[in-house]
Amino acid sequence: MKLVTILGSTGSIGESTLDVISRHPDAYRVFALSCNSNIEKLVKQCEKFKPDYAVVTSSESAILCSGLLSTKNIQTEVLVGIDGLNAVAVDDAVDIVMSAIVGAIGLEPTLCAVNSGKKVLLANKESLVMAGHLFMQAVNASDAILLPIDSEHNALFQCLPAMTKGDKFSGVKKLLLSASGGPFRGKSMEQLEAVTPEQACVHPNWNMGKKISVDSATLMNKGLELIEASWLFSMPPEKIDIVVHPESVIHSLVQYVDGSVLAQLGNPDMRTPIAHALSWPDRMTSGVDDLDLIELGRLNFESPDPVNFPCLRIALEAARVGLDAPAVLNAANEIAVQAFLDRRIGFTQISEVIEDTLDATIFNEPESLAAVKDSDTKARIHTQKLISKIER
Ligand SMILES: NC(=O)c1ccc[n+]([C@@H]2O[C@H](COP(=O)([O-])OP(=O)(O)OC[C@H]3O[C@@H](n4cnc5c(N)ncnc54)[C@H](OP(=O)(O)O)[C@@H]3O)[C@@H](O)[C@H]2O)c1
Repeated sequence: MKLVTILGSTGSIGESTLDVISRHPDAYRVFALSCNSNIEKLVKQCEKFKPDYAVVTSSESAILCSGLLSTKNIQTEVLVGIDGLNAVAVDDAVDIVMSAIVGAIGLEPTLCAVNSGKKVLLANKESLVMAGHLFMQAVNASDAILLPIDSEHNALFQCLPAMTKGDKFSGVKKLLLSASGGPFRGKSMEQLEAVTPEQACVHPNWNMGKKISVDSATLMNKGLELIEASWLFSMPPEKIDIVVHPESVIHSLVQYVDGSVLAQLGNPDMRTPIAHALSWPDRMTSGVDDLDLIELGRLNFESPDPVNFPCLRIALEAARVGLDAPAVLNAANEIAVQAFLDRRIGFTQISEVIEDTLDATIFNEPESLAAVKDSDTKARIHTQKLISKIER
Protein backbone atom coordinates (compact mmCIF):
# COMPACT_ATOMS: atom_id res chain seq x y z
CA MET A 1 0.00 0.00 0.00
CA LYS A 2 1.51 3.36 -1.08
CA LEU A 3 0.55 6.57 0.73
CA VAL A 4 -0.07 9.57 -1.49
CA THR A 5 -0.11 13.31 -0.81
CA ILE A 6 -1.96 15.34 -3.42
CA LEU A 7 -1.00 19.02 -3.42
CA GLY A 8 -3.86 20.80 -5.23
CA SER A 9 -6.40 17.97 -4.94
CA THR A 10 -9.41 20.16 -5.80
CA GLY A 11 -8.04 21.10 -9.24
CA SER A 12 -8.34 19.32 -12.55
CA ILE A 13 -5.17 17.22 -12.08
CA GLY A 14 -6.00 16.63 -8.40
CA GLU A 15 -9.45 15.28 -9.24
CA SER A 16 -8.08 13.05 -12.03
CA THR A 17 -5.50 11.69 -9.57
CA LEU A 18 -8.22 10.85 -7.05
CA ASP A 19 -10.23 9.18 -9.81
CA VAL A 20 -7.28 6.92 -10.69
CA ILE A 21 -6.55 6.17 -7.01
CA SER A 22 -10.21 5.28 -6.37
CA ARG A 23 -9.85 2.51 -8.99
CA HIS A 24 -7.01 0.90 -7.02
CA PRO A 25 -8.01 0.94 -3.34
CA ASP A 26 -5.71 -1.99 -2.52
CA ALA A 27 -2.61 -0.21 -3.89
CA TYR A 28 -2.94 3.44 -2.80
CA ARG A 29 -4.22 5.34 0.23
CA VAL A 30 -4.56 9.13 0.37
CA PHE A 31 -2.40 10.65 3.12
CA ALA A 32 -3.10 14.36 2.51
CA LEU A 33 -5.15 16.64 0.29
CA SER A 34 -4.97 20.41 -0.22
CA CYS A 35 -6.82 23.35 -1.74
CA ASN A 36 -6.83 27.13 -1.89
CA SER A 37 -10.44 28.35 -1.60
CA ASN A 38 -12.53 25.37 -2.60
CA ILE A 39 -13.21 24.16 0.96
CA GLU A 40 -16.50 22.40 0.23
CA LYS A 41 -14.93 20.29 -2.50
CA LEU A 42 -11.99 19.50 -0.19
CA VAL A 43 -14.37 18.36 2.56
CA LYS A 44 -16.25 16.10 0.10
CA GLN A 45 -12.89 14.60 -0.93
CA CYS A 46 -12.02 14.05 2.76
CA GLU A 47 -15.39 12.33 3.27
CA LYS A 48 -14.61 9.90 0.46
CA PHE A 49 -10.85 9.33 0.89
CA LYS A 50 -10.40 9.84 4.66
CA PRO A 51 -6.91 11.39 4.50
CA ASP A 52 -4.85 12.00 7.65
CA TYR A 53 -4.42 15.67 6.73
CA ALA A 54 -6.11 18.43 4.72
CA VAL A 55 -4.17 21.63 4.03
CA VAL A 56 -5.81 25.01 3.44
CA THR A 57 -4.30 28.45 2.83
CA SER A 58 -5.65 30.61 5.69
CA SER A 59 -6.71 30.29 9.32
CA GLU A 60 -10.27 31.37 8.37
CA SER A 61 -10.43 28.51 5.85
CA ALA A 62 -9.03 26.16 8.50
CA ILE A 63 -11.83 27.06 10.94
CA LEU A 64 -14.44 26.56 8.21
CA CYS A 65 -12.89 23.29 7.07
CA SER A 66 -12.49 21.86 10.61
CA GLY A 67 -16.11 22.77 11.39
CA LEU A 68 -17.44 21.02 8.28
CA LEU A 69 -15.25 17.97 8.91
CA SER A 70 -16.38 17.63 12.53
CA THR A 71 -20.11 17.89 11.64
CA LYS A 72 -19.50 14.93 9.31
CA ASN A 73 -17.46 13.15 11.99
CA ILE A 74 -14.35 12.96 9.76
CA GLN A 75 -11.07 12.59 11.68
CA THR A 76 -8.86 14.46 9.14
CA GLU A 77 -6.54 17.01 10.78
CA VAL A 78 -6.42 20.48 9.15
CA LEU A 79 -3.07 22.21 8.54
CA VAL A 80 -2.52 25.75 7.24
CA GLY A 81 -0.37 27.52 4.65
CA ILE A 82 3.03 26.78 3.19
CA ASP A 83 4.21 25.07 6.40
CA GLY A 84 1.26 22.71 6.16
CA LEU A 85 1.99 21.93 2.48
CA ASN A 86 5.67 21.34 3.24
CA ALA A 87 4.80 19.08 6.19
CA VAL A 88 2.53 16.78 4.16
CA ALA A 89 5.13 16.70 1.35
CA VAL A 90 7.94 15.42 3.60
CA ASP A 91 6.13 13.25 6.17
CA ASP A 92 7.97 9.92 6.64
CA ALA A 93 4.73 8.01 6.01
CA VAL A 94 4.38 9.42 2.48
CA ASP A 95 5.62 7.47 -0.56
CA ILE A 96 4.29 9.58 -3.44
CA VAL A 97 3.66 13.33 -3.78
CA MET A 98 1.51 14.62 -6.63
CA SER A 99 2.52 18.25 -7.25
CA ALA A 100 -0.65 19.71 -8.77
CA ILE A 101 -0.90 23.19 -7.28
CA VAL A 102 -1.00 25.78 -10.04
CA GLY A 103 1.67 28.49 -10.18
CA ALA A 104 4.83 29.52 -8.36
CA ILE A 105 3.38 28.67 -4.94
CA GLY A 106 3.90 24.99 -5.86
CA LEU A 107 7.70 25.29 -5.98
CA GLU A 108 8.56 25.10 -2.28
CA PRO A 109 6.50 22.05 -1.24
CA THR A 110 7.59 20.24 -4.41
CA LEU A 111 11.25 20.93 -3.60
CA CYS A 112 10.62 19.70 -0.04
CA ALA A 113 9.22 16.44 -1.44
CA VAL A 114 12.27 16.11 -3.71
CA ASN A 115 14.72 16.79 -0.87
CA SER A 116 13.07 14.15 1.29
CA GLY A 117 13.47 11.53 -1.44
CA LYS A 118 9.83 10.97 -2.41
CA LYS A 119 8.48 9.71 -5.68
CA VAL A 120 7.39 13.11 -7.05
CA LEU A 121 4.77 13.33 -9.81
CA LEU A 122 5.28 16.76 -11.35
CA ALA A 123 2.29 18.51 -12.88
CA ASN A 124 3.29 21.96 -11.56
CA LYS A 125 5.46 22.99 -14.54
CA GLU A 126 6.02 26.44 -13.02
CA SER A 127 8.49 24.86 -10.50
CA LEU A 128 10.86 23.80 -13.26
CA VAL A 129 10.40 26.96 -15.29
CA MET A 130 11.24 29.18 -12.31
CA ALA A 131 14.06 27.23 -10.77
CA GLY A 132 15.04 24.49 -13.22
CA HIS A 133 18.73 24.47 -12.33
CA LEU A 134 18.21 24.35 -8.56
CA PHE A 135 15.32 21.92 -8.90
CA MET A 136 17.25 19.41 -11.02
CA GLN A 137 20.30 19.79 -8.76
CA ALA A 138 18.06 18.80 -5.83
CA VAL A 139 16.63 15.85 -7.79
CA ASN A 140 20.11 14.60 -8.71
CA ALA A 141 21.42 15.01 -5.15
CA SER A 142 18.48 13.19 -3.52
CA ASP A 143 16.87 9.75 -3.68
CA ALA A 144 13.78 11.31 -5.25
CA ILE A 145 12.23 9.84 -8.37
CA LEU A 146 10.83 12.60 -10.58
CA LEU A 147 8.11 11.60 -13.03
CA PRO A 148 6.50 14.10 -15.41
CA ILE A 149 2.72 14.40 -15.51
CA ASP A 150 2.34 16.93 -18.31
CA SER A 151 1.09 14.66 -21.11
CA GLU A 152 3.86 15.80 -23.49
CA HIS A 153 6.66 15.22 -20.99
CA ASN A 154 5.18 11.96 -19.83
CA ALA A 155 5.09 10.90 -23.50
CA LEU A 156 8.74 11.92 -23.98
CA PHE A 157 9.69 10.04 -20.80
CA GLN A 158 8.00 6.94 -22.22
CA CYS A 159 9.75 7.28 -25.61
CA LEU A 160 13.25 8.08 -24.33
CA PRO A 161 15.75 5.40 -23.29
CA ALA A 162 15.84 4.58 -19.57
CA MET A 163 18.13 7.15 -17.94
CA THR A 164 20.23 7.26 -14.80
CA LYS A 165 20.10 10.60 -12.98
CA GLY A 166 22.32 13.27 -14.51
CA ASP A 167 23.10 11.18 -17.65
CA LYS A 168 22.79 12.53 -21.17
CA PHE A 169 20.83 10.45 -23.66
CA SER A 170 22.85 8.99 -26.50
CA GLY A 171 21.37 8.59 -29.97
CA VAL A 172 18.63 11.18 -29.46
CA LYS A 173 18.59 13.85 -32.18
CA LYS A 174 15.72 15.99 -30.93
CA LEU A 175 12.47 16.09 -29.01
CA LEU A 176 9.21 16.94 -30.77
CA LEU A 177 6.72 18.54 -28.42
CA SER A 178 3.09 18.25 -29.52
CA ALA A 179 0.82 21.30 -29.25
CA SER A 180 -2.93 21.33 -29.83
CA GLY A 181 -2.77 24.98 -30.95
CA GLY A 182 -5.38 25.88 -28.33
CA PRO A 183 -8.91 27.24 -28.85
CA PHE A 184 -7.77 30.14 -31.08
CA ARG A 185 -5.63 28.24 -33.57
CA GLY A 186 -5.74 29.98 -36.98
CA LYS A 187 -6.99 33.31 -35.61
CA SER A 188 -5.29 36.62 -36.46
CA MET A 189 -4.06 39.20 -33.94
CA GLU A 190 -7.07 41.42 -34.80
CA GLN A 191 -9.51 38.58 -34.09
CA LEU A 192 -7.71 37.81 -30.84
CA GLU A 193 -8.09 41.35 -29.50
CA ALA A 194 -11.72 40.84 -28.51
CA VAL A 195 -11.66 37.28 -27.13
CA THR A 196 -13.06 36.77 -23.61
CA PRO A 197 -11.82 34.72 -20.64
CA GLU A 198 -14.76 32.35 -21.18
CA GLN A 199 -13.67 31.68 -24.79
CA ALA A 200 -10.04 31.27 -23.75
CA CYS A 201 -10.94 28.73 -21.06
CA VAL A 202 -12.78 26.35 -23.40
CA HIS A 203 -10.07 24.08 -24.69
CA PRO A 204 -10.95 21.88 -27.69
CA ASN A 205 -9.42 18.66 -26.26
CA TRP A 206 -8.47 19.03 -22.60
CA ASN A 207 -10.46 19.90 -19.48
CA MET A 208 -8.06 22.02 -17.39
CA GLY A 209 -7.84 24.76 -14.76
CA LYS A 210 -8.28 28.39 -15.86
CA LYS A 211 -4.62 29.46 -15.74
CA ILE A 212 -3.29 26.62 -17.90
CA SER A 213 -6.29 27.03 -20.24
CA VAL A 214 -5.33 30.67 -20.89
CA ASP A 215 -1.68 29.59 -21.26
CA SER A 216 -2.81 27.09 -23.91
CA ALA A 217 -4.79 29.80 -25.69
CA THR A 218 -1.79 32.19 -25.82
CA LEU A 219 0.65 29.30 -26.57
CA MET A 220 2.65 30.36 -23.51
CA ASN A 221 1.91 26.86 -22.23
CA LYS A 222 4.03 25.41 -25.03
CA GLY A 223 6.85 27.83 -24.23
CA LEU A 224 6.70 26.85 -20.54
CA GLU A 225 6.67 23.20 -21.58
CA LEU A 226 9.73 23.65 -23.79
CA ILE A 227 11.63 25.08 -20.81
CA GLU A 228 10.30 22.23 -18.64
CA ALA A 229 11.40 19.62 -21.21
CA SER A 230 14.81 21.21 -21.50
CA TRP A 231 15.42 20.78 -17.75
CA LEU A 232 13.77 17.38 -17.37
CA PHE A 233 15.66 15.74 -20.22
CA SER A 234 18.88 17.85 -20.26
CA MET A 235 18.17 19.02 -23.81
CA PRO A 236 19.16 22.48 -25.08
CA PRO A 237 16.11 24.47 -26.26
CA GLU A 238 17.34 24.37 -29.89
CA LYS A 239 16.98 20.57 -29.85
CA ILE A 240 13.28 20.78 -29.00
CA ASP A 241 10.81 21.42 -31.82
CA ILE A 242 7.12 22.19 -31.48
CA VAL A 243 4.61 20.49 -33.76
CA VAL A 244 0.99 21.62 -33.79
CA HIS A 245 -1.23 18.55 -33.81
CA PRO A 246 -4.85 19.64 -33.28
CA GLU A 247 -6.27 16.21 -32.33
CA SER A 248 -3.97 15.84 -29.25
CA VAL A 249 -3.62 12.11 -29.79
CA ILE A 250 0.15 11.96 -30.33
CA HIS A 251 1.36 13.43 -27.05
CA SER A 252 4.99 13.96 -28.16
CA LEU A 253 7.80 12.27 -30.07
CA VAL A 254 11.52 11.51 -29.88
CA GLN A 255 13.63 11.66 -33.06
CA TYR A 256 16.69 9.36 -32.97
CA VAL A 257 19.88 9.76 -35.03
CA ASP A 258 19.12 6.64 -37.09
CA GLY A 259 15.87 8.13 -38.45
CA SER A 260 13.58 6.35 -35.99
CA VAL A 261 10.85 8.45 -34.42
CA LEU A 262 9.11 7.10 -31.32
CA ALA A 263 5.76 8.55 -30.30
CA GLN A 264 3.32 7.96 -27.47
CA LEU A 265 -0.36 8.03 -28.40
CA GLY A 266 -3.57 7.93 -26.41
CA ASN A 267 -6.89 9.67 -25.91
CA PRO A 268 -6.45 13.17 -24.45
CA ASP A 269 -7.17 12.31 -20.81
CA MET A 270 -4.74 13.16 -18.00
CA ARG A 271 -5.58 9.94 -16.17
CA THR A 272 -3.19 8.12 -18.55
CA PRO A 273 0.01 10.00 -17.54
CA ILE A 274 -1.19 10.03 -13.92
CA ALA A 275 -1.71 6.25 -13.85
CA HIS A 276 1.59 5.75 -15.69
CA ALA A 277 3.53 7.80 -13.15
CA LEU A 278 1.72 6.47 -10.07
CA SER A 279 2.40 2.85 -11.02
CA TRP A 280 5.80 3.37 -12.72
CA PRO A 281 7.74 1.18 -13.48
CA ASP A 282 4.63 -1.03 -13.67
CA ARG A 283 1.39 -0.30 -15.50
CA MET A 284 -2.19 -0.17 -14.23
CA THR A 285 -5.65 0.72 -15.52
CA SER A 286 -6.62 4.41 -15.58
CA GLY A 287 -10.26 4.43 -16.66
CA VAL A 288 -9.29 5.91 -20.05
CA ASP A 289 -11.01 4.43 -23.12
CA ASP A 290 -8.96 2.57 -25.73
CA LEU A 291 -7.76 4.72 -28.62
CA ASP A 292 -9.77 3.96 -31.78
CA LEU A 293 -7.51 4.84 -34.74
CA ILE A 294 -10.07 3.79 -37.34
CA GLU A 295 -12.67 6.11 -35.85
CA LEU A 296 -10.08 8.92 -35.77
CA GLY A 297 -9.32 8.35 -39.44
CA ARG A 298 -6.56 10.93 -39.80
CA LEU A 299 -4.16 13.01 -37.77
CA ASN A 300 -2.99 16.51 -38.76
CA PHE A 301 0.22 18.45 -38.21
CA GLU A 302 1.27 22.05 -38.80
CA SER A 303 3.85 24.62 -37.68
CA PRO A 304 3.17 26.87 -34.68
CA ASP A 305 2.32 30.53 -35.35
CA PRO A 306 4.70 32.73 -33.29
CA VAL A 307 3.51 35.90 -35.05
CA ASN A 308 -0.13 35.87 -33.93
CA PHE A 309 0.84 34.08 -30.71
CA PRO A 310 3.87 36.10 -29.54
CA CYS A 311 3.94 34.41 -26.10
CA LEU A 312 5.56 31.41 -27.76
CA ARG A 313 8.33 33.53 -29.28
CA ILE A 314 8.85 35.40 -25.98
CA ALA A 315 9.11 32.12 -24.03
CA LEU A 316 11.62 30.69 -26.52
CA GLU A 317 13.74 33.85 -26.17
CA ALA A 318 13.66 33.53 -22.37
CA ALA A 319 14.64 29.87 -22.69
CA ARG A 320 17.66 30.82 -24.81
CA VAL A 321 18.71 33.62 -22.43
CA GLY A 322 18.50 31.27 -19.42
CA LEU A 323 19.65 32.80 -16.08
CA ASP A 324 16.53 34.05 -14.28
CA ALA A 325 14.73 35.00 -17.52
CA PRO A 326 12.35 31.98 -17.27
CA ALA A 327 11.51 32.93 -13.65
CA VAL A 328 10.71 36.48 -14.77
CA LEU A 329 8.69 35.13 -17.71
CA ASN A 330 6.71 32.86 -15.41
CA ALA A 331 5.98 35.57 -12.83
CA ALA A 332 4.94 38.14 -15.45
CA ASN A 333 2.75 35.53 -17.12
CA GLU A 334 0.97 34.56 -13.89
CA ILE A 335 0.16 38.21 -13.17
CA ALA A 336 -0.90 38.97 -16.76
CA VAL A 337 -3.11 35.88 -17.05
CA GLN A 338 -4.87 36.71 -13.77
CA ALA A 339 -5.41 40.30 -14.99
CA PHE A 340 -6.94 38.93 -18.20
CA LEU A 341 -9.18 36.54 -16.23
CA ASP A 342 -10.23 39.54 -14.07
CA ARG A 343 -11.00 41.49 -17.32
CA ARG A 344 -8.44 44.18 -16.46
CA ILE A 345 -6.51 43.67 -19.71
CA GLY A 346 -7.30 42.19 -23.12
CA PHE A 347 -5.99 38.88 -24.46
CA THR A 348 -3.36 40.42 -26.75
CA GLN A 349 -2.07 42.61 -23.90
CA ILE A 350 -0.92 39.50 -22.03
CA SER A 351 2.10 39.12 -24.32
CA GLU A 352 2.75 42.89 -24.32
CA VAL A 353 3.15 43.19 -20.54
CA ILE A 354 5.23 40.02 -20.34
CA GLU A 355 7.60 41.25 -23.04
CA ASP A 356 7.83 44.72 -21.44
CA THR A 357 8.69 43.11 -18.09
CA LEU A 358 11.42 40.98 -19.64
CA ASP A 359 12.79 43.99 -21.57
CA ALA A 360 13.07 45.97 -18.33
CA THR A 361 14.97 43.22 -16.48
CA ILE A 362 18.72 42.75 -16.10
CA PHE A 363 19.07 38.99 -15.80
CA ASN A 364 21.16 37.25 -13.15
CA GLU A 365 22.15 33.69 -12.37
CA PRO A 366 19.74 32.60 -9.59
CA GLU A 367 22.16 30.92 -7.17
CA SER A 368 19.60 30.13 -4.47
CA LEU A 369 15.91 29.69 -3.88
CA ALA A 370 15.90 33.13 -2.24
CA ALA A 371 17.36 34.64 -5.43
CA VAL A 372 14.66 32.95 -7.53
CA LYS A 373 11.96 34.29 -5.21
CA ASP A 374 13.51 37.75 -5.44
CA SER A 375 13.41 37.69 -9.27
CA ASP A 376 9.84 36.41 -9.09
CA THR A 377 8.72 39.17 -6.70
CA LYS A 378 10.39 41.97 -8.66
CA ALA A 379 8.86 40.76 -11.93
CA ARG A 380 5.40 40.55 -10.35
CA ILE A 381 5.66 44.13 -9.05
CA HIS A 382 6.84 45.40 -12.45
CA THR A 383 4.06 43.62 -14.34
CA GLN A 384 1.40 44.86 -11.89
CA LYS A 385 2.64 48.43 -12.46
CA LEU A 386 2.43 48.01 -16.24
CA ILE A 387 -1.08 46.61 -15.93
CA SER A 388 -2.32 49.45 -13.73
CA LYS A 389 -1.17 51.90 -16.43
CA ILE A 390 -3.09 50.18 -19.23
CA GLU A 391 -6.03 48.50 -17.51
CA ARG A 392 -9.55 49.05 -18.77
N1 LIG B 1 -5.12 20.33 -16.06
C1 LIG B 1 -4.30 19.72 -16.89
O1 LIG B 1 -4.72 18.98 -17.78
C2 LIG B 1 -2.80 19.92 -16.76
C3 LIG B 1 -1.96 19.28 -17.67
C4 LIG B 1 -0.59 19.41 -17.52
C5 LIG B 1 -0.06 20.19 -16.50
N2 LIG B 1 -0.90 20.82 -15.65
C6 LIG B 1 -0.32 21.65 -14.58
O2 LIG B 1 -0.79 21.17 -13.34
C7 LIG B 1 -0.97 22.25 -12.42
C8 LIG B 1 -2.42 22.23 -11.96
O3 LIG B 1 -3.25 22.46 -13.07
P1 LIG B 1 -4.84 22.31 -12.95
O4 LIG B 1 -5.36 22.44 -14.32
O5 LIG B 1 -5.17 21.09 -12.15
O6 LIG B 1 -5.17 23.64 -12.13
P2 LIG B 1 -6.50 23.98 -11.34
O7 LIG B 1 -7.64 23.15 -11.81
O8 LIG B 1 -6.64 25.45 -11.35
O9 LIG B 1 -6.16 23.50 -9.83
C9 LIG B 1 -5.14 24.11 -9.10
C10 LIG B 1 -5.05 23.54 -7.70
O10 LIG B 1 -4.14 24.37 -6.95
C11 LIG B 1 -4.84 24.95 -5.80
N3 LIG B 1 -4.30 26.29 -5.59
C12 LIG B 1 -4.47 27.38 -6.39
N4 LIG B 1 -3.84 28.45 -5.85
C13 LIG B 1 -3.29 28.03 -4.69
C14 LIG B 1 -2.56 28.67 -3.65
N5 LIG B 1 -2.26 29.98 -3.71
N6 LIG B 1 -2.17 27.94 -2.59
C15 LIG B 1 -2.45 26.62 -2.51
N7 LIG B 1 -3.18 25.95 -3.45
C16 LIG B 1 -3.57 26.65 -4.52
C17 LIG B 1 -6.31 24.97 -6.23
O11 LIG B 1 -7.17 25.07 -5.11
P3 LIG B 1 -8.71 25.64 -5.30
O12 LIG B 1 -9.45 24.57 -6.04
O13 LIG B 1 -9.19 25.84 -3.92
O14 LIG B 1 -8.57 26.91 -6.09
C18 LIG B 1 -6.38 23.60 -6.93
O15 LIG B 1 -6.44 22.57 -5.99
C19 LIG B 1 -0.58 23.52 -13.19
O16 LIG B 1 0.75 23.83 -12.91
C20 LIG B 1 -0.72 23.12 -14.65
O17 LIG B 1 0.14 23.85 -15.49
C21 LIG B 1 -2.25 20.70 -15.75
